[in-house]
Amino acid sequence: MKLNKKFLVIPIVLGMSLALVNCKNDTKKEDTPVVEEMAEASIIKSNFGMFQDSIPVEKYALVNANGMEVDVITYGGIITSLKAPSQDSTFQDVVLGFDSLEEYVEGSPYFGAIIGRYGNRIAKGEFKLDGETYTLPVNDGDNSLHGGTAGFDKVVWNAEEVKDGDNVGLKLTYLSPDGDMGYPGNLETTVTYTLQADNTLMVKYEATTDKPTVVNLTQHTYFNLSGNFDNTILDTEVMINADQYLPVDAGLIPTGELKSVAGTTFDFNKPKKIGAEINAEDDQLKKGLGYDHCWILNGTGGEMKLAATALDPESGRFMEIMSTEPAIQFYTGNFLDGTLTQKDGEGTYAYRSGFCLETQHYPDSPNQADFPSTVLKPGEKYETTTSFKFSVQD
Ligand code: GLA
Repeated sequence: MKLNKKFLVIPIVLGMSLALVNCKNDTKKEDTPVVEEMAEASIIKSNFGMFQDSIPVEKYALVNANGMEVDVITYGGIITSLKAPSQDSTFQDVVLGFDSLEEYVEGSPYFGAIIGRYGNRIAKGEFKLDGETYTLPVNDGDNSLHGGTAGFDKVVWNAEEVKDGDNVGLKLTYLSPDGDMGYPGNLETTVTYTLQADNTLMVKYEATTDKPTVVNLTQHTYFNLSGNFDNTILDTEVMINADQYLPVDAGLIPTGELKSVAGTTFDFNKPKKIGAEINAEDDQLKKGLGYDHCWILNGTGGEMKLAATALDPESGRFMEIMSTEPAIQFYTGNFLDGTLTQKDGEGTYAYRSGFCLETQHYPDSPNQADFPSTVLKPGEKYETTTSFKFSVQD
C-alpha cells in the first residue's frame, strides 16, 4: 500500500500483535504532522487443537495493512473467519464456521474448506479412465461428493507462511497418495491463500500427478455478507456472469444439457436478490431444494474473468469473484437446518443463512465426455486461480 501522507504512526492491536510503522515522506512539513492509522501486514500463528489426539492443527491469521483479516486452519485448509470491510471502516466476520476443531471434525457441511480431489458429485462413485474403472466412496445418496468420505477438507495440510511486500499468504501442501479415496496417482497438491493490500483474497490451486487422474479443486466458504449469522442470505443481491447452467437429475447430477438461463429463475446476469425467485414453481429449484447448480461462466476459459458478485444491500458489503475456472456452483445453504452452532456459541445456522460460490469445472465431468476435461496426466500441471475482492458500496 502506498503511503502518501506525511507522517505516520499507529498502534493497532490485532489479536496479539502490535505494529508500529514508520512511513517515509518526501514532502514532510514539521508543523503539520498527519497521523494515519496504518499497520504492517502480518501473519499470526496460534494453536487450534489436536487432530486425532496426535496431529497439531494451527491457525494462521493473515492481516493486511487495512486491518482485513482471514483466518485459515491447517485442518482442511479451512477459512474459519474472514473479516471484510464495512462502511464505517471496521471489519466484520462474513463467513460461517465454528469456534473449535472438534466441531469441524465432527460434522461440518464443508464450512470454509478446500474441496478435493473432486469438487461436487461423481455419479454412482465411479468413472473410467484409460479403460480402467475407478470406484470412489459414495457419500451422497448414490454418488460421491467432494472427494469422498475423507476428502481434502478432512486432512491436515502442511503450511508455510508467505510474505511478499504488502501481501500476506499461506502456502498449504498435501500429498494425496495413490488410491486415496479411490483416485489414481500420487497427487501433490498446493493451495496458496494470499491476502493482498487491496482487500483481495487470492486462492491459487496447483497439482501434479504420477498417474493419469481427475482433479477438480475448489473452496467451500459459506458467506453471509450481512455479518449477522441470524439473517438469511435471501436479501443478498447476486450476479453470476453466465448465460447457461447445468440442469440436474434428482441426485443433483448434471443431465448433460447446457441450458440457457434466459427467461428462467437461473438468470443472474443482472444482480438479483437470492430470494427473489428461490421458491418459484420450478422443477430444477425443487430438485436442488433451492439453488444448488453449476453455472457455465461466460468467457473462453483459462483467463481470469469475472465470475460473480454479491452485495449485502443493508451494509453495502460487496464481494467480487474472478476466476480462471470455466464454471461456478451456486449453493444457497439449503441443507442448513439450525442444528449447527454459530461461532459465538449462541445461535445456530438456520436454513439458507449462508451461500457458496464455488469456482470449478463441471460436476461429474469424468463421466460426461462433452464436458471440459478434468483429466490430469503426469508431466502436466493443474493450475487455477480464483480471487475474492471485498469492498463497500454506498
Ligand atoms: C455443494 C453441493 C451441495 C451440498 C454442499 C454441502 O455445494 O452442491 O449439494 O452438498 O456442497 O452441503
